[in-house]
Amino acid sequence: SCALAAQTFMIAMAAEGYDTCPLEGFDSKRMKKLLKLPHGAGINMVVPCGIRDGEKGIWGERYRVPFDEVYHRL
Ligand SMILES: Cc1cc2nc3c(=O)[nH]c(=O)nc-3n(C[C@H](O)[C@H](O)[C@H](O)COP(=O)(O)O)c2cc1C
Repeated sequence: SCALAAQTFMIAMAAEGYDTCPLEGFDSKRMKKLLKLPHGAGINMVVPCGIRDGEKGIWGERYRVPFDEVYHRL
């Protein structure tokens, strides 16, 4: 699926020192126009990429589920 490709891309970017942010909520019509894609094309996900700007790059309060609650080594 496209999500697996997107995830692999994000992991590869992280390995190279870049941050990414997957987005599924976007204006598909405008995005297709911007990228000059045909009307019938479908965009699965938008993945902005960049280099983090330390604390200056954080605009609002962030919520994080504790790592131990979501990761279990078997
Ligand atoms: C598949 C997927 C789609 C997402 N789509 C959106 C989106 O449309 N808008 C949004 O604000 N965050 C979206 N997120 C969450 C952001 O990628 C990001 O994790 C979130 O804004 C929190 O940012 P932070 O990690 O800096 O706290 C999505 C996450 C995933 C995994």
